[in-house]
Amino acid sequence: MKLFIDSADVNKIQLLNDYYSIDGVTTNPSIIVKEGKPYLPLLKDIQSSIGTEKELFVQAIADMAENIVEEAKYIQDSLQGNIVIKIPVTSEGLKAIKLLSRMGIRTLATTVYTPMNAYLAAKAGASYVAPYVNRIDNLSGNGIQVVKDIVEIFAKSNFNCEVLAASFKNTQQVLEVCLAGAQGVTASPDIIEAFLKVPSIKENVETFSKEWYGLYGSNSLLD
Ligand code: E4P
Repeated sequence: MKLFIDSADVNKIQLLNDYYSIDGVTTNPSIIVKEGKPYLPLLKDIQSSIGTEKELFVQAIADMAENIVEEAKYIQDSLQGNIVIKIPVTSEGLKAIKLLSRMGIRTLATTVYTPMNAYLAAKAGASYVAPYVNRIDNLSGNGIQVVKDIVEIFAKSNFNCEVLAASFKNTQQVLEVCLAGAQGVTASPDIIEAFLKVPSIKENVETFSKEWYGLYGSNSLLD
């Protein structure tokens, strides 16, 4: 199962990528705007910090299919490496996904709220769909159930499209989409860091060290 960092904070991305096995970085317009920097140099910095072989997701801004396609080609040409273009599941977005798929440009259908949004995106040729788990929950929906339904539809239809669950408020939601069979998740640095926030780990490690050094002094295993 893939793990992506949902952020454009280069320092955080670098840190998480150093410590954990990360498959790439997802961004959206809000995430990029938060950094307050020119976007192309920022995206290049993100690529340098993770390596161009890892996937970097960049969202199109245009409304009309032809303009989305132009933006996608521009982003592909401006950035080397493994780029996936994020496109919202509007009717124009679906048309753009279809056109880009024929050109061999990989896309992720974003702002997915229902299984049928995802179905249309997969039919159009999207490589990924991103159901917005927490935003669905905030609309009194059931984000986990939406992910389960999409996973089931894709498996039954043999679609060549991965479910990359997105929009999380806590680690429990991430756990539940993993169990639901999503092929990947994208989460903010805070959520990824929270995977390891178990006080008992630190307590256990401190006890091990105290007991070891109590008998062997400051000697490590190498001494
Ligand atoms: C990722 O593709 C989405 O843009 C992102 O996960 C949305 O998350 P949010 O609901 O926490 O803003």
